[in-house]
Amino acid sequence: MGVQISGGYIGYRMRTHIVRAILALAALLPLHAVAAKIVGGPVVVHVGPKSATIVWVVEDFQVELGDAPDAVNQAVAPGLRSVRASFTGLKPGRRYYYKVPGYDGVGGSFRTAPVGDVDFQFVVFGDTRTRHKMHRDIVNAIVRDTKPDFVIHTGDLVSNGRESALWPRFFEIEAPLLREAAFFPVLGNHERNSPDFHDFFAIESPYYSFDWGRAHFIILNSDFGNAAATKEAKQRFWDDQLRWLERDLAEHQDAALRFVAMHHPPFTAVKRRQGGKKHVADMVPLFERYKVTAVYMGHDHNYQHHLVGGVHYIVTGGGGAPLYPVDAPLDGVTLKVESVEHYVRVAVKGGRAVSEAVALDGRVIDRVVFGSRDSTD
Ligand SMILES: [Fe+2]
Repeated sequence: MGVQISGGYIGYRMRTHIVRAILALAALLPLHAVAAKIVGGPVVVHVGPKSATIVWVVEDFQVELGDAPDAVNQAVAPGLRSVRASFTGLKPGRRYYYKVPGYDGVGGSFRTAPVGDVDFQFVVFGDTRTRHKMHRDIVNAIVRDTKPDFVIHTGDLVSNGRESALWPRFFEIEAPLLREAAFFPVLGNHERNSPDFHDFFAIESPYYSFDWGRAHFIILNSDFGNAAATKEAKQRFWDDQLRWLERDLAEHQDAALRFVAMHHPPFTAVKRRQGGKKHVADMVPLFERYKVTAVYMGHDHNYQHHLVGGVHYIVTGGGGAPLYPVDAPLDGVTLKVESVEHYVRVAVKGGRAVSEAVALDGRVIDRVVFGSRDSTD
C-alpha cells in the first residue's frame, strides 16, 4: 500500500517550464477554491479482500431557481460531484483507518473482506427516504448496539434520487455508520435510476456480487420500471440480469451461505400490494434451484419473513419511511410480520448465520438461524 510516483526522465528546461506553469495556475486560483465543502461521506465502497474505494461528495456551488428573471430565489439546490480514492494491495480481514488531511474530523475506518472461515457481522435495512428523525434513530441504534463489518441498504435511500438537495441530508444522517462500516447500496424505485446514485457510490454495474468469508452476496437491480427508457430496453435489461444471476449462482454453489439483496419483494403480506405479476417473480425459480439461503428486500415499510421453496424472504423496510400495515399474511408461507421500525443484523459464524430483526428499543422481533441447522426459533 502506498503512493508510488513513476515516470521517465524530465529534462531541466522542461521541469522549469512545468514549475512556472504550476506557479502561474496557483496564482489564478482564489484561496477559497482550495477546500471544497464536503456534504456527503466519506463512504467506503467496493470493499474486497485487498481493495477498497473511499468516496465523498462535495458541493462546489449552489444553484438558485425561480420562474421569472427577477424571482430566482424560489428554490435552491447544491451543485454536487463525487471524489474518490482507491487503494489496492491491502490485507484481507484487517481494519484500516483513513483521514482526509486538511479536513478536520473527516475520516473513519473499515474492515477488508476476510477470506476463509472467519466470523463477521453485517446489517441490512432500508427505506430511509422520509421521517428523517426515525432514520437517524435507526442509524444511532445500529451504531450503539451492533458493530457491523458492512451494511446493505435495501433501497429507497432518498425520496427522489434526482433531487440534489436530498443527498446531503441522507449522508449527514448516515455518517456515524458510514465512518465504521463498508456500504453496499441496492437501487430502489425512489432513486429513479439517478446518475447521482451511481456516482456517489461508485456503482460500476447495476447488479454485482462479492464474497465475504465463506459467504457469497448478490446485489440485484429489481427496479424494472426505471431500468431503461423503452419497454423493449427494460426487458433486455431484465433478461440480461437473469442470465447473469443464473451464471453467478452456478459459479458460487460451493459458498457456505448465499445471500441476495434487492428492493422489490416477490411475496408480501401487505394486502394492497398483492396480486398482479411482479417482475421479481422471475427470479424465484433460480433462488430455489441454486439454494439461496435468504433474500433481503425493502419497498414495503415493515418487517416480513416468508419461507418459500426452502428460501427465506425477509422484507426489511423499516428505516424511516411511513409504516405499512401487514394485514394479509400468506397461508403456509409467512412466518413473521410486524409493522415496526427496525433493522436486521446478521452474525455469521462458520457455515451458520443468525439473522435478527431488531426494534429501536433493542427488542428482537424475529430470529432465524441459517446454515447447517436451518431453523426458526
Ligand atoms: Fe420502494
